Formats: sequence, C-alpha cells, structure tokens
Amino acid sequence: MRVLVIGSGGREHALVWKLRSSPEVTSILAAPGNGGISAAVPTVPVAADDIDGLVRLASENRIDLTIVGPEDTLAAGIVDRFHDAGLRIFGPTRAAARIESSKLWARDLMQRHGIPTDRWASASTPNEARSLVREFGIPVVLKADGLARGRGAVVCSSLEDTEVAINELMGEGAHGPAGHRIVVEEYLEGTELSVFALADGQHVLPLIGARDYKPLLDGDRGPNTGGMGGYAPPAYATPALMDEVRRTILEPTVRALAAEGVPYVGVLYAGLMITRDGPRVLEFNCRWGDPEAELVLPLLKSDLVDLMDACIDGRLDGMTVEWEDDVTCGVVLAAPGYPATPSKGSQIDGLDRTDPGLLVFHGGTRRVEGPDTPIVTNGGRVLTVVARASTLPEARASAYANATRVHFEGVRYRHDLGEIDPSLQQIRAGVMRA
Ligand code: AMP
Ligand code: GLY
Repeated sequence: MRVLVIGSGGREHALVWKLRSSPEVTSILAAPGNGGISAAVPTVPVAADDIDGLVRLASENRIDLTIVGPEDTLAAGIVDRFHDAGLRIFGPTRAAARIESSKLWARDLMQRHGIPTDRWASASTPNEARSLVREFGIPVVLKADGLARGRGAVVCSSLEDTEVAINELMGEGAHGPAGHRIVVEEYLEGTELSVFALADGQHVLPLIGARDYKPLLDGDRGPNTGGMGGYAPPAYATPALMDEVRRTILEPTVRALAAEGVPYVGVLYAGLMITRDGPRVLEFNCRWGDPEAELVLPLLKSDLVDLMDACIDGRLDGMTVEWEDDVTCGVVLAAPGYPATPSKGSQIDGLDRTDPGLLVFHGGTRRVEGPDTPIVTNGGRVLTVVARASTLPEARASAYANATRVHFEGVRYRHDLGEIDPSLQQIRAGVMRA
C-alpha cells in the first residue's frame, strides 16, 4: 500500500512514524513534511492548502490511501475532491468537518441532540458580545466561530480582557471571516481531557484519552496556544469516565451527524472539560490533535491502517483496539515569539544526545541543504519530546531530562506538564483545577 500523509507538524511526524511500522505499508510520501519527516520518508513540496496539487500528486504516484493532518485542508473539502477523483482518503467531508470549522454549527448540533456542553450564545456585533458578557458574568470565554489556528478561544478573567478579546476576535483583519460571529460561553471549572474516536459514519471506536496544556506558561498562565505538551492516558480518564464520554458524547454526536445527512468518517476529537457534573464538550475537532497524536499514537499497538480502512469501509462495528500498558509524556519545545510571531532559522543542537527509545517528533523544523545538513527552526512549535515509561513520574522525568539536552536560541517550554494527575474523585469534588 502506498500512503500519502498531508501536513507538516509533530502530529504528521507521529503519523508517519506509526505508519512505518504497518506491515501493509510499502511506501510513504509526505507533503510538504518538515525536517524530521524528510529524514524518515520522501517529501514533496506541495502545500497542504494546494488541493489541486495534492489530487495530482496522489494520482501520479498511484497513492492507495491519503491521510490528512490539518483541519484547514479538511474544511476546504479535500475529502470531497479526492472522492470525485476516485481516490481513497481518510477524513471527514467538508460538510462533516464543519464540526470544527464552525463552532456555532457544532453548538447548534449539540443543542438539537442534547449533547452536554456549556451554556453559550452567539454574537455578530461587538455590542451584542458586550451585552452577553454582562449577562454571563466574569470569568467568561469568547471564541471565533471559524478556524483560527488554535488561537480563536480567549478565557477572560476581567471586563478589560473581554474588551481586548472582542477587538481581537471581531476587529478588522484579526481572524477575517472566522471572527465575524463569536460564541460567548460560560466558563467551566474542571480538568481538561482530549478524547479521540475513530468513526465510520455510523459507529465510533474511542481511543485512549490525553491531557494537553493549552496556555503558554507554567501554571496555565499566558495566551492559549495550539498545545504545549501533556501526557496520556491520564489516571482520571477511568474506564467509567471513558464509557460515559462514549455514551453521552461520542456516540450521540456521530449518530446526530448521520441523522442530519452528514455522516462522519475519520477521527473525531472531543475537547472536554471534566466538571463536577460530568464531562462537557468545549469543542470538537475534525482530526488528530497536536500534541495529542504524539502522545497517543506511540501507545497504539494495533495497526493504524487496519483501523483507518475499517472507518472508510464502514466496518468499525465490533472492531477493537490494542494499547501498550505504558504512559507517555511529551514536552513541546517552542520558538521565542510563539504563539504570536515565532522566530525562525535558529540552528537546533543536541538532537543526537537524546536517550535511545525517546521519540522526538518534529513540527516547525527544516533541513538546510549543505554538507552537514543542519536542522533549523521553522515554526512556533518546533519539537515534541516524548518519553514512554510504565508510570507518569518516570515518563515525565525522562521527557524533561531529554528536553534539556536539545537546544536552539530562545527555546521555551512548560515545566509543569504532568506534575499533578488528579483523581476523578478530586475533580468531581471540585478540589482540582489542574
Ligand atoms: P477550544 O479551542 O474551544 O478548545 O478552547 C481552547 C482552550 O480554552 C481550552 O482547551 C480550554 O483550556 C479553554 N476553554 C475553552 N472553553 C472553555 C470554557 N467554556 N470554560 C473554561 N475553559 C475553556
Ligand atoms: N492540541 C489541540 C489541538 O490539536 O487542537
């Protein structure tokens, strides 16, 4: 089987890494890839938003299966275009990808089908947003309706914050059409959990949960990012909680999509807040998360291609998935200036000094042509350093020990990932805000 992986982040590097162990895969091509992906498989400089170019690439290379990383590519309708061209691809159609590309559409769907989320309302002018903020009270969360590269959600702890956020989200040119309408949401207390489910249009197969940390700085301070690292699976994602998530969120959502004529095939990612009253949806994404993919895929024992094939062919019912017993902890090494304006072009040293067995997934990196082909930074989230061990404290110690050996100018990362893994009882008692 010839496989094409689209994208250039740590998530896509983890997908390539996992696919290389599949007995069914004879060759992998990546577009456009990054400095780490290009060391593992051939890459082609076709951008993830060049859908015509990607259709051509897959046809010319007789690709049997295409796997899409980025949400923008899915939201732009790559799956529909590949289907039209008779090409096999894993992911939701443009219509089904609206679960991520319109937060309002997703929330209307949840409301129609009784899927547990927070209290919310939409605003299409700054004044409407201000009056909703007064009604909801502080703290409050404001979100752009459309895709905003992981930066469309602002948690506001003062009225001044809400003014800044309204300007940022709705102001001229900030997020363009993504911010024309915003969602105002009740702020939920609890602990976050990301859960992926594979979906074949009718059925779901939930995977293990992962904990991502979105704020840039230790102690959950600073602006939200795409994700600064985390661990999987959290102890609080007990079998009972995961079962509740499947019954109350994942299955009803996939059934709702099918009932509304937009069957969902691909990875459905539920970003949840585990509150005293149970799990609540903060957002859905139409793809693997980053860094969650780097945390979850290393623990997957089953063949990924088998699972994706079952989704595409509508055969997920009755499938099972096998996991390693270990825990992963991953630290994202970010460039200075991330998330607003990350600097690029610094040489990365120490990649040869990490422990054997440690995984370093590349995100914003680039291999420079030349005699010793150095690797330089080329984006905000540069590397995800992932360690596997039998316990979280061991995985955490190893991830941090290795993270300190890799260096580039201005490297920054969070120091408190996986420091506390609360129990579900603590969360339910409202003791924790990890
Ligand atoms: P989202 O893009 O919707 O996942 O939001 C990004 C991050 O903002 C989440 O991972 C949470 O940390 C935070 N957040 C979003 N919505 C809420 C909410 N209703 N209550 C509390 N925190 C939230
Ligand atoms: N880690 C969050 C995301 O992938 O959207």
